[in-house]
Order: sequence, then C-alpha cells, then structure tokens
Amino acid sequence: MCGIVGIIGNTPVAPQIVEALKRLEYRGYDSAGVATLEYGRLARCRAEGKLRNLEAKLSQSPLSGHIGIGHTRWATHGKPNETNAHPHATDKLAVVHNGIIENFRELKAALEAKGVRFETETDTEVVAQLVTYEMRQGRPPVEAVAVTLPRLRGAFALAFLFNGEDEVLIGARHGAPLAIGYGADEMYLGSDALALAPFTDDITYLEDGDWAILRRKGADIRDASGAMVQRPRHKIPAGSFMADKGNHRHFMAKEIHEQPEVVGRTLAHYVNFSAGRVELPFELPFDFKDLKRISISACGTAYLAGLVSKYWFERLARIPVEIDVASEFRYREAPLEPGELALFVSQSGETADTLASLRYAAAEKLHTLSVVNVPTSTMARESAVVAQTLAGVEVGVASTKAFTCQLTVLLSLAIAAGRARGTLSAEEEKELVDALIAVPGQMSEAMKREHDIEILARELSKAKDVLYLGRGTAYPLAMEGALKLKEISYIHAEGYAAGELKHGPIALIDETMPVIVIAPFDHIFEKTVSNMQEVAARGGRIILITDEKGALETGLDTLATIVMPSVHPVVAPILNSVPIQLLAYHTAVFMGKDVDQPRNLAKSVTVE
Ligand code: M6R
Repeated sequence: MCGIVGIIGNTPVAPQIVEALKRLEYRGYDSAGVATLEYGRLARCRAEGKLRNLEAKLSQSPLSGHIGIGHTRWATHGKPNETNAHPHATDKLAVVHNGIIENFRELKAALEAKGVRFETETDTEVVAQLVTYEMRQGRPPVEAVAVTLPRLRGAFALAFLFNGEDEVLIGARHGAPLAIGYGADEMYLGSDALALAPFTDDITYLEDGDWAILRRKGADIRDASGAMVQRPRHKIPAGSFMADKGNHRHFMAKEIHEQPEVVGRTLAHYVNFSAGRVELPFELPFDFKDLKRISISACGTAYLAGLVSKYWFERLARIPVEIDVASEFRYREAPLEPGELALFVSQSGETADTLASLRYAAAEKLHTLSVVNVPTSTMARESAVVAQTLAGVEVGVASTKAFTCQLTVLLSLAIAAGRARGTLSAEEEKELVDALIAVPGQMSEAMKREHDIEILARELSKAKDVLYLGRGTAYPLAMEGALKLKEISYIHAEGYAAGELKHGPIALIDETMPVIVIAPFDHIFEKTVSNMQEVAARGGRIILITDEKGALETGLDTLATIVMPSVHPVVAPILNSVPIQLLAYHTAVFMGKDVDQPRNLAKSVTVE
C-alpha cells in the first residue's frame, strides 16, 4: 500500500509531487508528506489525514526545492499520525516507503545496540537509519543503499533523497511496484504510471530486485546483484488514465452508472454479436477440453466475482473449480499439477496476495490467466494470458463497475470453455450470448429503481446489523452486497447462503434486523422462499431483490421488494449487482460517510 513519488527537475517540485500523490491516494490516505532540498538542505512537510491537509500546510509554508520525494500512507506499522508520516528523515537522508520491512525488529534492535535512537513506530525508519549508519561509516549514498538493500526482507518499494545531493534520487523495487518516468532534463519515480501521467508517458517498470539511480539526464538501473541492466521503455497512452466525477457527487455513483456502457464495451471485446458466440481476443496456450481443474484466487470483490464464476465453469463447462482467497491459496500448499489452469481476478492487478499467488502458480508450472482491469499492472505483465476487463479507471474504493466487468469476462470464458469441452451446444451458447448482450440495456432499466432504493436506504441506515441471503450465484452476490455495505457505511453486514441460515445465523434475527434476500426466479427460487418464511416467522424485515415472476410468486410480506427486469438466470448476478451497489451507496451517503475513500481502506492493497 502507500504511494511514492520522486522528482528531480528544474523548477519547484513540491506542487508536482502533490499532483502525483493525488493520483496515488487510492493506495492510502492516512497521512501524506513531501521532502525536498531547500538550498541543498533537507526540508520536510507532513500532515495527518488526507492529502488536502498536506496541501493546506504547504500553502502556508511552501517548499521550493527542485528535487524531492513524496508519500501518501496506508498505515501498517504505527498509528496514522504526523510523527509516523513519511518521508522519514535523518540528518543524511529522507526516505519514502511502500510495503513492509518484515525483519525491521531485528534490524532495529541491532542499530539500537549501536546507540541509534528511533523516533517513530514505523518499519520505514529502520531503512533511514541503516543507510545513515552506512554513510556515517564513510560510504557515499549509492554504496550505502547498495549494502542496505540486501539486508531488508519483505515486499517493498523505496525512494531516497540525500542531504546536499541535488543530482541524485534512488528508487528500489522489491515485491512492490515502482516505475521510472523520463522527461526533458527531468526524471521521475512513481508507484505507477498513473502518478506520472501529468509529466510523462515514457515509462520503465522496474523488475523485482531492481534499483535505480536517477539523475536529471537519465537513470542507471541495477539488478539485485548490482549489475547494470537495461529495462524496456513503454509509451503509455495519455488517455488511459482519465477519470473525473462527471455530473455525479461521487466517483462511486459515476462508476455504478457507467456499468451499462463498460459492460457493453467489455462484451464487445469477447463476443461476436452477429454470430451469437464468444470469441476470445487472445490465444490460449492450453485447450479447455484438456483441463482437469481450475484454481481461482483473488481478494475481496474480485474473489466474489471468482466465486460466481465457479458456478458458471462447473455448470456450463463441467470443469471442477477450486477457489481461495489469495492470502490462503499461496500458503496452504494445495496439491497442484503442472498444466492445470490457475485463474486470477483483480481490478488493480497489483494486489499483493493475488500477485504472490500468481507467482506461486507460475513456479508450480500451472498455466496462468489473469482477469485484470489495469493493462499496465504487474499481474498483466506477469500472466501468461491476460483477459482484460474494459471497465476504465475505477477510482471509488468500493469496487462496482470492475466487478460487473469481471463477471462479464468470466462468463465469456466459461461459455468458451463449455463450447471447447462439448458441454454447451451452439444453440445453448447462442441463448447465453443473447442473454449477455441484453444485460447492458437491462442494467439501464435497473438504474430506474434508484429513487426507490434511495428511500429504502434511509431505513437501512438505522440498522446496526444487516444479513444478506442468496442461493446459487446469488450467494456470492449476497456476500458482495454485505461487503459493499460494510466497507462504505460501516454497518455490520454478513452474506450467507440462504440454506445455511438455520445452522446458526437465524439466532440473530429479530424485528430490528433487515434481511436482504437476492432471489431471482430460477430453479432454486422456492427453496429461497422457504428460507424467507423462516426469517418472516421470527419478525425479520425482508428486503427482496427479485424479478417480476419472483415478486408475483413470493406470497410474503416484505419491507420492500425491488423488482428487476426478468433475465436469463445465468446472467442474473451481473444485473442484480446494480441494486446491491445502489443500496450500499445511498445508505452510506445518507449517513454522511466518505463513500469514495472509506476509513482504513485503500483501493489497491499492495501489502500482505
Ligand atoms: O484490485 P483488486 O481487484 O485485486 O482488489 C481486491 C480487493 O482489495 C477489492 O476488491 C476490495 O475488496 C474492494 N474494496 C471491494 O469493494
């Protein structure tokens, strides 16, 4: 987590650093800071909380140096206060850091034994003190960094600025991303190309273990052994990063409303509309018909998209699917066979656990296929096959349009797999493709329920706890509804398989507990209705999300029924995402919460 920036230029860099940090706030917003060289001497400005607090401080006491580093923090070690805010500095240097130094305690103890005093609770300060210690032994900055980096364990990226050295910035990448940007007599470091987009489209992504010495005229890149290496330069199209709120109050609202368009765009990439068949826009290095199993790993909402797809792959293509949250997959030592397919889902393509799972699977010689939204991300670069979701830039921390685009791609893959394995006939494929093609229009129709959902949200905002229930693909969607609500409104919410209710959670139900049931009219609808009866019998207040047929057939009093357009049951989870997103959004807005940047969260989770 955390965003880091470094600039070595010819005009005051602090405003540019702040501009770049704004683009990195998705990585955390607990505190922010900048360090520059003022007439050769290190100077810092740091502030607790969002970047606007740092901007306010800088407008009172501007920094004018032409070289500097900046940071936006998601706290791991130490409270999110100003003392723990980056850059961390000594009399020799300032450093910003993204990731975790896992062995910081032993390194700190060794330094303390030598009389070094620490001011903060962070793991980062140990890096500042280690390099400072080496410099006190007479090593120049580059050499001091060179001997320090191999002593650090964990996944991290670093940027260093040195007192009195206005021609050198050093950046290092070890498990967390770092990019170099090339300008005209200016050089840049950034956690990603997005941060550097206002200044340059000429980018080099450092590889793991690389570190780079930046001067105004260019960069020397070295690998972990210290050998000079060349890394490719990429032209990143300027338009790839455009994001504004349009006429919406929040990015999340804009992103919910964009779904008909971006799902349509994604579909057009995977489906031949006139032929009524899926046509994947890439070659596969394996044949679906030879696969014995797919292992899916992902985190958060992306994991829940993967869980929906388990139902699709198993039902449509008869391929057994195992699915894990990525933080479990990489450590549970599951028996894996070379040649199997490992499938990863990620909006950012940078999530540390998912990326580590991808590397683990690649090392085990599995085929790797990643469904990612950011085409320049590390996962996109490291996967054998990339299935891109064309959701566009997603800014809101709560994932919405990325989720429905992930579902769209995953269903296309499941259909392609079904065809390859002979478990789907051409007619069945056409029926599914026609159902998919209708989804964008039906999503627009579903948006018309927004006013009713907004009124319902006022009721939901009074709840302390909310239960979401569903069966089949509506079960992962129930979990997604609960995740959306809890992350932006801070109301406690759980998603359960409706049939599991009676095995424990039913004890929670009373007249204060809203129970949101997602129940399209499908082959298990009646079973879900029985579960709703059990809730109603105990006074639970039901909010039902169903379609016209379901609304007619339920025969139960509900607090509210949200009636969605009737669709093919297979595509229902894509469509039913809309009301659960709108319900969470309006509840949080009504409660006055910061929906785009909820507390304690970050858009991209690049630490374990
Ligand atoms: O970038 P990724 O899709 O890999 O991110 C995974 C999760 O961190 C993410 O989906 C998270 O759960 C969202 N905040 C949910 O809205």
